[in-house]
Amino acid sequence: MERLQKVIAESGYTSRRKAEELIKAGKVFVNGERVTELGTKVSGDDTIMINGEILNKEDKVYFLFNKPRGVVSTVSDDKDRKTVLDYIDTDKRIYPVGRLDYNTTGILLLTNDGKLDNILTHPSHHVPKTYVAKLNRCLEIEDLHKIEKGIMIDDIKCKPTRVKLKKNDKVADTALVEITIVEGRNHIVKRLFEACGYLVDKLTRIQYGFLTLENLKSGEYRELTIKEVHKLYDYK
Ligand code: URA
Repeated sequence: MERLQKVIAESGYTSRRKAEELIKAGKVFVNGERVTELGTKVSGDDTIMINGEILNKEDKVYFLFNKPRGVVSTVSDDKDRKTVLDYIDTDKRIYPVGRLDYNTTGILLLTNDGKLDNILTHPSHHVPKTYVAKLNRCLEIEDLHKIEKGIMIDDIKCKPTRVKLKKNDKVADTALVEITIVEGRNHIVKRLFEACGYLVDKLTRIQYGFLTLENLKSGEYRELTIKEVHKLYDYK
């Protein structure tokens, strides 16, 4: 027996958070009965219906995408902006694993595999994510050390696993910094630098776990191999 919201999320229908909202809103029926309790457990034999549609288990698909600037990491946008789904040709109900900001570029995984999504986004699994940040001024060495030691953000310490100053451009007064973080709080890289008095002018994610962009151009994607999917499961 598994929790209803988990089963819905793992079917690829939607994220666990959205599944919880659907349950609370009374849109989910189990064996014909409306269920609004989040803790409700269901088995593989139960028939789950959402918004009048029977939940079925889709084949799982996995995409590695090089997200361009000016694209939202959601499945739809109320301001009608371009979403990451506009780039990917699939009939499956995929969604992004975590988020990149509208103007952040680089690696984003998309899947309909809720189980893998949970593994990769759960803070205890420590999936490393590497970014290159362009700062609005040269990075001072004391600040680099401060960041290495960890910065309190909303009362929780964010300690990058690696911070590397790639370049301080003294003429333009900008810096390029490579930073690896295992957590996934929203805007975490920008907030980290802002806490030390820097603005992030450009941000690119160049690595997610062991996955890199290789030769994927901006806006391009590819499917993951089975081997890569198994390796991602190993983060559990
Ligand atoms: N940190 C940020 O500040 N933005 C992103 O898009 C990802 C990580």
